[in-house]
Amino acid sequence: MNILLKTIKVVAVATAIIVSPVLKAGNGVNIEHLGVNNTIVRLTSEGKYLLLPVQESNDDAIINVIVDGELDRKIHVRLAKSKVDYTVPLDIERYKGHNVVLNIVTTQDRSSVRDAKEDACWNRFEVTDSFDTSNREKFRPAYHHTPLYGWMNDPNGMFYKDGIWHLYYQWNPFGSKWQNLAWGHSSSEDLVNWTHHPAAIEPNGLGMVFSGSSAIDSTGSAGFGKGAVVAMYTSADVSQIQSLASSIDGGETFTVYPGNPVLTLDSEARDPNMFWDKDKNRWVLVLAHALEHEMLIFTSPDMKEWTLESSFGKGLGAQDGVWECPDLFELSVDGLDKTKWVLLCNLNPGGPFGGSATQYFTGDFDGRKFTADTDAEGNVPTKWLDYGKDHYATVSFSDAPDGRRTVIGWMSNWQYAPEVPTTQFRSANTLPREIGLFTDSKGEIHASSTPSPEVDALRDKLVKSVGRTNIGKKGRTYELPELCEIDFEIDPLKGRSIDIVFSNAAGEEVTMIYDPAESTLSFDRRRSGITDFSQDFAAVTTAPTFNDGGRLALRIFIDRSSIEVFESHGRFAMTNLVFPNSPYNRLSINSDGGNARISDLKIYSIKSNR
Ligand code: FRU
Repeated sequence: MNILLKTIKVVAVATAIIVSPVLKAGNGVNIEHLGVNNTIVRLTSEGKYLLLPVQESNDDAIINVIVDGELDRKIHVRLAKSKVDYTVPLDIERYKGHNVVLNIVTTQDRSSVRDAKEDACWNRFEVTDSFDTSNREKFRPAYHHTPLYGWMNDPNGMFYKDGIWHLYYQWNPFGSKWQNLAWGHSSSEDLVNWTHHPAAIEPNGLGMVFSGSSAIDSTGSAGFGKGAVVAMYTSADVSQIQSLASSIDGGETFTVYPGNPVLTLDSEARDPNMFWDKDKNRWVLVLAHALEHEMLIFTSPDMKEWTLESSFGKGLGAQDGVWECPDLFELSVDGLDKTKWVLLCNLNPGGPFGGSATQYFTGDFDGRKFTADTDAEGNVPTKWLDYGKDHYATVSFSDAPDGRRTVIGWMSNWQYAPEVPTTQFRSANTLPREIGLFTDSKGEIHASSTPSPEVDALRDKLVKSVGRTNIGKKGRTYELPELCEIDFEIDPLKGRSIDIVFSNAAGEEVTMIYDPAESTLSFDRRRSGITDFSQDFAAVTTAPTFNDGGRLALRIFIDRSSIEVFESHGRFAMTNLVFPNSPYNRLSINSDGGNARISDLKIYSIKSNR
């Protein structure tokens, strides 16, 4: 809800003294406590931001932002009670020339303990022209996308247009926990260096802005103009309903469609994902029928009138938790002429290692109905796009160039995402990945994930290169730069398991074990560093290597708080967060009971891009 700029008016302070027994003035605000749980904060000077002091362990206070007497927005902020953890900026530049009053309700819980006026926050409210986003927290990733500050979950509405990749995301700019969801926005020319933009779609009277997708409407079918970018997302309040917003400046700013909602159901449904069916000249929409564990498929000529065509999923695959964040796309199999469709069904909880994970089905789609492939026994197999604990809500960019299917995931897990040991920001995205399809030795089709080619440009120096070396029990050790990519191939020779250990001076380590007998690679982060913020964090994750116990080539990416492992052809990917007290600076590879060989070992340092 943007307010038109009018004349500049600064609120008079004097009148407030008469009506309020407790008053604090200064820092560009005037504060009047009205009772145990209600405080009025008036802006008395202009600036770009009003800093709001946060204490994360608190419950939310409700801040009603009143502009010229009208409610402009309602935000939930964990205003500090006993200590200020950090501040978050409320953009007040947009209110220039208007009277701004915050009517703040702290909850019963706070007031029953003590009078709200004692709270630590009030002295730290401040009108300012700058907000420091140069976050130097030690776990802030150096080359993965993160929000500048605040909470982030799912990637949303990603698309590629005119040489720019656009990434939107579930964003709470008012604290590092889930709340106040808007679509944050970043863009990139190369998928690895990101520019941050203001929020693209903000909550309104229909609710918060939950996940969704964007598509380029090249025919202008939706009435927003040819080439408009149209976002479809879930407006979430008491219910979840589907809304549209359009952009005619290439995704920078969006105008919410006045006829929203465009699709309503009488049950929980969210995360609309749409694409243009060029054969049938109409839009296809996949919507997560979350609690029913199914995906609903609709079609429409104009994105506004939707017809339910079919549903997919009841009783199939992993059925725990809720089904969320779908995506549906066609890919060639083994890079040949044959194609198959892939339906991504993120689910939470119910992932293979607890909590959130990206399940997918391969199959056929006739424009109305998706039918999943079956295995040799006639069952629909459960398949996972990544075998770590920290890969969720993964969806793809619309209109990626050269037929690419490029995806990005949220690198966390709902089991502990709000508790991870970071402060000013929470959560990062995975590296961008290219999805393909391959056939395994049993004839089953699986999705592959490889780092997008642009990721190679992150390499700084080749710090170690080893052609071929035999390893035994004692193994080999290599020094690691803090930010790095490590590539190598293991030949298990005698078929015994091989340990790949990343460790630091503090004795913390991540141990990966390649077990050729089982054709698995496991990742043990139980002693990886800080793990005690959640009982669900310390864990071992295991991936099938799809190589019948033979040679295994890996690409491993280490950032400050994540490790991503890829089989070099993408046959599996594994993404796990880690919080070591100091960076892992040693890699040791040894063979449990006999000889093995590693070849083409390359260790690259990676540039920090912040
Ligand atoms: C998945 C999800 C979505 C929802 C969003 C809300 O992580 O639960 O289903 O739209 O997060 O932030």
